[in-house]
Amino acid sequence: MTLLTWNHACSVGVRAMDDQHGILMDSINALRLALLRGAGRERISELLDEFIEFARMHFWSEEQLMEQTGFAGLEEHRAEHHRMLAGILQAAHRLQYGDGVQLRPLLCGLHQGFLHHMETFDQKYAPWLREHGVN
Ligand SMILES: [Fe+2]
Ligand SMILES: [Fe+2]
Repeated sequence: MTLLTWNHACSVGVRAMDDQHGILMDSINALRLALLRGAGRERISELLDEFIEFARMHFWSEEQLMEQTGFAGLEEHRAEHHRMLAGILQAAHRLQYGDGVQLRPLLCGLHQGFLHHMETFDQKYAPWLREHGVN
């Protein structure tokens, strides 16, 4: 299992958002490491809850910036955040209450989903925010 490293494809050039993206990636790495070291379901659930809290805060921060600068793609982006969060919450719920949840594919999906979001949706607001003095 490889750890995620920060790369330029993910950078949006807005300091606060890049910092938050870094924390999200660190948080996914912590989950992957915990899994690798054989942590129990309870510990994984705890880490997943922390991740969800931070992701929620991050999504809210981005939406605030897009709203304050009048970004036209806000509603589409917000809907995508809701869709992602619903997927993660469902996975966390299955992990906490369901049997037979495969952690590895779950984390893999989380990782891929966030990378994809940063490389597509987040890149769309990046130039707009910079043009509007957010950096
Ligand atoms: Fe983001
Ligand atoms: Fe986003």
